Amino acid sequence: MKPSGVKIVGVGHYAPAEILTNHDLEKTLDTNDEWITTRTGMQRRHVSAPEEATSDLALAAARKALAFANLAPEQIDCFVVATVTPDFPFPATACIVASKLGAQNKAAFDIEIACSGFIYGLTVCASLIRSGVYRRVMLIGAETLTKIVNKKDRGTAILFGDGAGAVILEESEADSFLSSELGSDGSRSELLRVSAGGSRFALDPLRYDAGEQYIYMDGREVFKFAVAKMIDATEVALKKANLTHADLDILIPHQANKRIIDAAAKYLEMPPEKVFVNIQEYGNTSAASIPIALSEAVEQHKIKDGNIIVFVGFGGGLSWGAVTWRWAA
Ligand code: ACO
Repeated sequence: MKPSGVKIVGVGHYAPAEILTNHDLEKTLDTNDEWITTRTGMQRRHVSAPEEATSDLALAAARKALAFANLAPEQIDCFVVATVTPDFPFPATACIVASKLGAQNKAAFDIEIACSGFIYGLTVCASLIRSGVYRRVMLIGAETLTKIVNKKDRGTAILFGDGAGAVILEESEADSFLSSELGSDGSRSELLRVSAGGSRFALDPLRYDAGEQYIYMDGREVFKFAVAKMIDATEVALKKANLTHADLDILIPHQANKRIIDAAAKYLEMPPEKVFVNIQEYGNTSAASIPIALSEAVEQHKIKDGNIIVFVGFGGGLSWGAVTWRWAA
Protein backbone atom coordinates (compact mmCIF):
# COMPACT_ATOMS: atom_id res chain seq x y z
CA MET A 1 0.00 0.00 0.00
CA LYS A 2 1.16 3.53 -0.74
CA PRO A 3 2.44 5.27 2.43
CA SER A 4 0.26 8.19 3.51
CA GLY A 5 2.43 9.47 6.34
CA VAL A 6 5.34 11.91 6.45
CA LYS A 7 8.55 12.23 8.43
CA ILE A 8 11.58 14.51 8.57
CA VAL A 9 14.66 12.79 7.14
CA GLY A 10 17.10 15.71 7.02
CA VAL A 11 17.84 18.94 8.89
CA GLY A 12 20.48 21.63 8.43
CA HIS A 13 21.12 25.24 9.33
CA TYR A 14 23.43 28.05 8.41
CA ALA A 15 24.15 31.52 9.80
CA PRO A 16 26.48 34.17 8.36
CA ALA A 17 29.93 34.51 9.89
CA GLU A 18 29.68 38.13 11.03
CA ILE A 19 28.50 38.51 14.64
CA LEU A 20 26.78 41.55 16.16
CA THR A 21 26.96 41.49 19.97
CA ASN A 22 25.02 43.55 22.51
CA HIS A 23 28.25 45.41 23.22
CA ASP A 24 28.56 46.26 19.50
CA LEU A 25 25.02 47.70 19.63
CA GLU A 26 25.97 49.83 22.66
CA LYS A 27 28.36 51.73 20.37
CA THR A 28 25.67 52.86 17.90
CA LEU A 29 22.44 52.94 19.92
CA ASP A 30 21.18 54.28 23.25
CA THR A 31 21.04 50.78 24.73
CA ASN A 32 23.11 48.45 26.85
CA ASP A 33 23.98 44.77 27.23
CA GLU A 34 22.14 44.47 30.55
CA TRP A 35 18.85 45.84 29.13
CA ILE A 36 18.98 43.65 26.04
CA THR A 37 19.93 40.51 27.97
CA THR A 38 17.28 40.86 30.68
CA ARG A 39 14.48 42.09 28.37
CA THR A 40 15.07 39.72 25.46
CA GLY A 41 17.60 36.97 26.34
CA MET A 42 19.60 37.93 23.24
CA GLN A 43 23.40 38.28 23.26
CA ARG A 44 24.51 37.87 19.67
CA ARG A 45 23.03 37.87 16.15
CA HIS A 46 24.53 36.79 12.84
CA VAL A 47 24.62 39.42 10.11
CA SER A 48 24.71 38.74 6.36
CA ALA A 49 27.36 40.45 4.25
CA PRO A 50 26.16 43.12 1.76
CA GLU A 51 26.58 40.68 -1.14
CA GLU A 52 24.88 37.81 0.76
CA ALA A 53 21.17 37.40 -0.06
CA THR A 54 18.51 35.19 1.51
CA SER A 55 18.90 32.52 -1.20
CA ASP A 56 22.61 32.22 -0.32
CA LEU A 57 21.78 31.43 3.31
CA ALA A 58 18.96 29.10 2.23
CA LEU A 59 21.31 27.29 -0.16
CA ALA A 60 23.88 26.62 2.57
CA ALA A 61 21.20 25.23 4.92
CA ALA A 62 19.68 23.16 2.09
CA ARG A 63 23.04 21.57 1.28
CA LYS A 64 23.49 20.57 4.92
CA ALA A 65 20.00 19.02 5.06
CA LEU A 66 20.72 17.07 1.84
CA ALA A 67 24.01 15.79 3.30
CA PHE A 68 22.22 14.82 6.53
CA ALA A 69 19.61 12.84 4.57
CA ASN A 70 22.18 11.49 2.10
CA LEU A 71 20.05 12.72 -0.80
CA ALA A 72 20.84 14.46 -4.07
CA PRO A 73 18.98 17.68 -5.00
CA GLU A 74 17.20 15.97 -7.93
CA GLN A 75 15.61 13.54 -5.46
CA ILE A 76 13.55 16.43 -4.01
CA ASP A 77 10.22 16.99 -5.80
CA CYS A 78 9.40 20.43 -4.46
CA PHE A 79 11.25 23.31 -2.79
CA VAL A 80 9.53 25.77 -0.46
CA VAL A 81 11.13 28.84 1.13
CA ALA A 82 9.40 30.66 4.00
CA THR A 83 10.70 34.23 4.15
CA VAL A 84 9.76 37.91 4.46
CA THR A 85 13.13 38.93 3.05
CA PRO A 86 13.13 37.33 -0.42
CA ASP A 87 15.98 38.10 -2.82
CA PHE A 88 13.44 40.02 -4.99
CA PRO A 89 9.69 40.79 -4.81
CA PHE A 90 9.59 38.14 -7.52
CA PRO A 91 10.76 35.59 -8.69
CA ALA A 92 10.30 33.34 -5.68
CA THR A 93 13.49 32.72 -3.72
CA ALA A 94 12.68 28.97 -3.79
CA CYS A 95 13.16 28.96 -7.60
CA ILE A 96 16.63 30.49 -7.18
CA VAL A 97 17.59 27.99 -4.47
CA ALA A 98 16.37 24.95 -6.45
CA SER A 99 18.27 26.14 -9.51
CA LYS A 100 21.50 26.83 -7.59
CA LEU A 101 21.26 23.34 -6.10
CA GLY A 102 21.07 21.95 -9.62
CA ALA A 103 17.53 20.58 -9.23
CA GLN A 104 16.01 21.14 -12.67
CA ASN A 105 12.30 21.62 -13.44
CA LYS A 106 11.15 21.05 -9.86
CA ALA A 107 8.19 22.74 -8.19
CA ALA A 108 9.30 25.73 -6.12
CA PHE A 109 7.43 28.49 -4.31
CA ASP A 110 7.69 30.88 -1.34
CA ILE A 111 5.50 31.30 1.71
CA GLU A 112 5.23 34.80 3.18
CA ILE A 113 3.66 34.82 6.63
CA ALA A 114 6.49 36.35 8.69
CA CYS A 115 7.59 34.50 11.82
CA SER A 116 4.81 31.91 11.42
CA GLY A 117 6.30 30.92 8.05
CA PHE A 118 7.87 27.65 9.13
CA ILE A 119 4.69 26.47 10.91
CA TYR A 120 2.49 27.28 7.91
CA GLY A 121 5.14 25.77 5.63
CA LEU A 122 5.35 22.56 7.64
CA THR A 123 1.56 22.18 7.45
CA VAL A 124 1.51 22.77 3.67
CA CYS A 125 4.55 20.60 2.90
CA ALA A 126 3.40 17.72 5.11
CA SER A 127 -0.01 17.91 3.42
CA LEU A 128 1.57 17.76 -0.05
CA ILE A 129 3.20 14.49 0.95
CA ARG A 130 0.32 12.99 2.95
CA SER A 131 -2.04 13.62 0.02
CA GLY A 132 0.32 11.80 -2.33
CA VAL A 133 1.18 14.83 -4.51
CA TYR A 134 4.92 14.58 -3.76
CA ARG A 135 7.28 12.04 -2.19
CA ARG A 136 9.90 14.47 -0.92
CA VAL A 137 9.70 18.20 -0.16
CA MET A 138 12.35 20.55 1.17
CA LEU A 139 11.16 23.37 3.43
CA ILE A 140 13.58 26.18 4.21
CA GLY A 141 13.05 29.12 6.56
CA ALA A 142 15.55 31.81 5.55
CA GLU A 143 15.88 35.49 6.42
CA THR A 144 18.19 38.48 6.08
CA LEU A 145 16.24 40.70 8.47
CA THR A 146 19.21 42.93 9.25
CA LYS A 147 18.73 44.33 5.72
CA ILE A 148 15.22 45.61 6.56
CA VAL A 149 15.89 46.83 10.08
CA ASN A 150 16.33 50.52 10.89
CA LYS A 151 19.75 50.55 12.54
CA LYS A 152 18.79 53.74 14.39
CA ASP A 153 15.64 52.25 16.00
CA ARG A 154 16.60 50.65 19.30
CA GLY A 155 13.15 49.07 19.57
CA THR A 156 13.85 46.75 16.62
CA ALA A 157 17.57 46.93 15.71
CA ILE A 158 18.53 44.92 18.78
CA LEU A 159 16.10 42.10 18.01
CA PHE A 160 16.68 40.77 14.52
CA GLY A 161 19.33 38.53 12.99
CA ASP A 162 19.97 36.53 9.83
CA GLY A 163 20.05 32.78 9.21
CA ALA A 164 18.44 29.78 7.55
CA GLY A 165 17.20 26.36 8.57
CA ALA A 166 16.10 23.54 6.26
CA VAL A 167 14.17 20.30 6.67
CA ILE A 168 13.51 17.50 4.19
CA LEU A 169 10.13 15.81 4.48
CA GLU A 170 9.63 12.36 3.03
CA GLU A 171 6.72 9.95 2.69
CA SER A 172 6.60 7.32 5.38
CA GLU A 173 4.33 4.55 6.62
CA ALA A 174 4.28 5.90 10.18
CA ASP A 175 3.00 9.49 10.33
CA SER A 176 4.93 12.16 12.24
CA PHE A 177 2.40 14.90 11.52
CA LEU A 178 -0.18 14.71 14.31
CA SER A 179 -1.99 18.05 14.08
CA SER A 180 -1.82 21.70 13.04
CA GLU A 181 -3.45 24.85 14.34
CA LEU A 182 -3.05 27.99 12.20
CA GLY A 183 -4.62 31.43 12.57
CA SER A 184 -4.46 35.10 11.63
CA ASP A 185 -5.88 38.50 12.55
CA GLY A 186 -5.32 41.04 9.78
CA SER A 187 -7.20 43.73 11.71
CA ARG A 188 -4.01 44.14 13.76
CA SER A 189 -1.60 44.06 10.81
CA GLU A 190 -0.37 47.59 11.55
CA LEU A 191 1.30 46.42 14.79
CA LEU A 192 4.10 44.74 12.91
CA ARG A 193 4.92 45.46 9.31
CA VAL A 194 7.06 47.05 6.61
CA SER A 195 4.73 49.83 5.43
CA ALA A 196 6.24 51.02 2.15
CA GLY A 197 7.45 49.30 -0.99
CA GLY A 198 4.33 47.23 -1.67
CA SER A 199 1.23 48.05 -3.71
CA ARG A 200 -0.43 50.02 -0.85
CA PHE A 201 2.33 52.58 -0.41
CA ALA A 202 5.03 52.98 -3.02
CA LEU A 203 8.48 53.71 -1.63
CA ASP A 204 8.55 57.37 -2.62
CA PRO A 205 11.18 59.82 -1.31
CA LEU A 206 8.90 61.02 1.53
CA ARG A 207 8.27 57.50 2.81
CA TYR A 208 11.93 56.64 2.32
CA ASP A 209 12.98 59.61 4.47
CA ALA A 210 10.43 58.55 7.11
CA GLY A 211 12.07 55.09 7.21
CA GLU A 212 8.95 53.21 6.07
CA GLN A 213 11.08 50.69 4.17
CA TYR A 214 12.06 49.24 7.55
CA ILE A 215 10.33 46.96 10.07
CA TYR A 216 7.88 48.83 12.30
CA MET A 217 6.77 47.09 15.49
CA ASP A 218 4.62 47.99 18.49
CA GLY A 219 6.70 45.82 20.84
CA ARG A 220 4.42 45.91 23.89
CA GLU A 221 1.27 44.95 21.99
CA VAL A 222 3.05 42.21 20.04
CA PHE A 223 4.48 40.88 23.30
CA LYS A 224 1.02 40.43 24.88
CA PHE A 225 -0.38 38.86 21.70
CA ALA A 226 2.63 36.53 21.44
CA VAL A 227 2.37 35.06 24.93
CA ALA A 228 -1.39 34.46 24.57
CA LYS A 229 -1.09 32.86 21.12
CA MET A 230 1.90 30.67 21.99
CA ILE A 231 -0.14 29.14 24.80
CA ASP A 232 -3.41 28.96 22.91
CA ALA A 233 -2.00 27.51 19.67
CA THR A 234 0.06 24.91 21.57
CA GLU A 235 -2.93 23.77 23.61
CA VAL A 236 -5.27 23.58 20.59
CA ALA A 237 -2.68 21.69 18.50
CA LEU A 238 -2.15 19.19 21.33
CA LYS A 239 -5.88 18.77 21.79
CA LYS A 240 -6.35 18.13 18.07
CA ALA A 241 -3.76 15.34 18.43
CA ASN A 242 -5.61 13.97 21.49
CA LEU A 243 -2.64 14.87 23.69
CA THR A 244 -2.04 17.17 26.66
CA HIS A 245 1.03 19.20 27.59
CA ALA A 246 2.01 16.34 29.93
CA ASP A 247 2.68 14.26 26.76
CA LEU A 248 4.98 16.88 25.31
CA ASP A 249 8.70 15.95 25.26
CA ILE A 250 10.08 19.13 23.72
CA LEU A 251 8.69 22.54 22.82
CA ILE A 252 10.46 24.28 19.92
CA PRO A 253 9.14 27.85 19.92
CA HIS A 254 9.79 30.79 17.65
CA GLN A 255 12.72 32.67 19.21
CA ALA A 256 11.43 36.24 19.49
CA ASN A 257 11.96 37.02 23.17
CA LYS A 258 13.13 34.76 26.02
CA ARG A 259 10.51 36.33 28.30
CA ILE A 260 7.75 35.36 25.84
CA ILE A 261 9.08 31.78 25.74
CA ASP A 262 9.42 31.62 29.55
CA ALA A 263 5.91 32.97 30.16
CA ALA A 264 4.36 30.46 27.75
CA ALA A 265 6.47 27.57 29.08
CA LYS A 266 5.48 28.39 32.66
CA TYR A 267 1.78 28.37 31.79
CA LEU A 268 2.21 25.09 29.87
CA GLU A 269 4.12 23.61 32.85
CA MET A 270 7.11 22.85 30.65
CA PRO A 271 10.39 22.66 32.63
CA PRO A 272 13.31 24.57 31.03
CA GLU A 273 15.05 21.37 29.90
CA LYS A 274 12.05 20.59 27.67
CA VAL A 275 12.04 23.97 25.94
CA PHE A 276 14.63 24.59 23.23
CA VAL A 277 16.16 28.07 23.37
CA ASN A 278 18.99 29.45 21.22
CA ILE A 279 17.87 33.09 21.10
CA GLN A 280 21.11 34.14 22.84
CA GLU A 281 23.05 33.20 19.69
CA TYR A 282 20.77 34.27 16.82
CA GLY A 283 18.21 36.85 18.03
CA ASN A 284 14.93 36.73 16.12
CA THR A 285 15.43 35.23 12.65
CA SER A 286 11.69 35.14 11.85
CA ALA A 287 10.79 32.17 9.59
CA ALA A 288 14.29 30.72 10.08
CA SER A 289 14.18 30.56 13.87
CA ILE A 290 12.25 27.29 14.36
CA PRO A 291 14.12 25.24 11.72
CA ILE A 292 17.48 26.53 13.04
CA ALA A 293 16.37 25.52 16.55
CA LEU A 294 15.23 22.09 15.33
CA SER A 295 18.49 21.50 13.48
CA GLU A 296 20.51 22.44 16.59
CA ALA A 297 18.31 20.31 18.85
CA VAL A 298 18.91 17.29 16.59
CA GLU A 299 22.64 18.07 16.42
CA GLN A 300 22.76 18.20 20.25
CA HIS A 301 20.87 14.85 20.54
CA LYS A 302 18.04 16.53 22.39
CA ILE A 303 15.38 14.77 20.30
CA LYS A 304 14.82 11.03 20.53
CA ASP A 305 12.86 8.58 18.40
CA GLY A 306 9.15 8.80 19.27
CA ASN A 307 9.41 12.17 21.06
CA ILE A 308 6.36 14.43 20.86
CA ILE A 309 7.36 17.91 19.70
CA VAL A 310 5.30 21.06 19.39
CA PHE A 311 6.61 23.69 17.00
CA VAL A 312 4.92 27.01 17.77
CA GLY A 313 5.28 30.45 16.22
CA PHE A 314 3.65 33.84 15.82
CA GLY A 315 4.37 37.08 14.05
CA GLY A 316 3.36 39.62 11.47
CA GLY A 317 -0.13 39.29 10.04
CA LEU A 318 -0.80 39.05 12.85
CA SER A 319 -0.42 35.31 12.49
CA TRP A 320 0.25 32.25 14.60
CA GLY A 321 0.46 28.50 14.41
CA ALA A 322 1.50 25.27 16.11
CA VAL A 323 2.22 21.79 14.77
CA THR A 324 2.34 18.62 16.86
CA TRP A 325 4.96 16.20 15.52
CA ARG A 326 6.10 12.72 16.55
CA TRP A 327 9.83 12.47 15.82
CA ALA A 328 10.87 9.41 13.84
CA ALA A 329 14.58 8.64 13.69
N1 ACO B 1 17.60 49.67 25.10
C1 ACO B 1 17.35 50.34 26.22
N2 ACO B 1 16.09 50.79 26.54
C2 ACO B 1 15.11 50.51 25.69
C3 ACO B 1 15.32 49.79 24.49
C4 ACO B 1 16.64 49.37 24.22
N3 ACO B 1 16.95 48.68 23.10
N4 ACO B 1 14.14 49.67 23.86
C5 ACO B 1 13.23 50.26 24.60
N5 ACO B 1 13.79 50.78 25.72
C6 ACO B 1 13.16 51.51 26.82
C7 ACO B 1 11.86 52.14 26.41
O1 ACO B 1 12.05 53.40 25.84
C8 ACO B 1 11.12 52.20 27.71
O2 ACO B 1 11.60 53.32 28.45
P1 ACO B 1 10.58 54.20 29.36
O3 ACO B 1 10.07 53.23 30.42
O4 ACO B 1 11.46 55.27 29.88
O5 ACO B 1 9.50 54.64 28.43
C9 ACO B 1 11.57 50.95 28.46
O6 ACO B 1 12.83 50.58 27.83
C10 ACO B 1 10.61 49.81 28.35
O7 ACO B 1 10.15 49.70 26.98
P2 ACO B 1 9.15 48.61 26.50
O8 ACO B 1 8.90 48.81 25.05
O9 ACO B 1 7.99 48.54 27.44
O10 ACO B 1 10.05 47.30 26.74
P3 ACO B 1 9.60 45.82 26.71
O11 ACO B 1 9.90 45.21 28.02
O12 ACO B 1 8.21 45.66 26.14
O13 ACO B 1 10.64 45.20 25.67
C11 ACO B 1 10.63 44.44 23.39
C12 ACO B 1 10.64 45.66 24.31
C13 ACO B 1 11.91 43.67 23.66
C14 ACO B 1 10.60 44.92 21.95
C15 ACO B 1 9.39 43.57 23.72
O14 ACO B 1 8.24 44.38 23.75
C16 ACO B 1 9.17 42.45 22.75
O15 ACO B 1 9.93 41.51 22.68
N6 ACO B 1 8.05 42.49 22.00
C17 ACO B 1 7.68 41.39 21.12
C18 ACO B 1 8.53 41.36 19.89
C19 ACO B 1 8.17 40.16 19.05
O16 ACO B 1 7.86 39.11 19.58
N7 ACO B 1 8.20 40.27 17.73
C20 ACO B 1 7.84 39.06 17.02
C21 ACO B 1 7.50 39.09 15.71
S1 ACO B 1 8.72 39.64 14.58
C22 ACO B 1 8.13 39.27 12.97
O17 ACO B 1 7.05 38.74 12.76
C23 ACO B 1 9.00 39.70 11.82
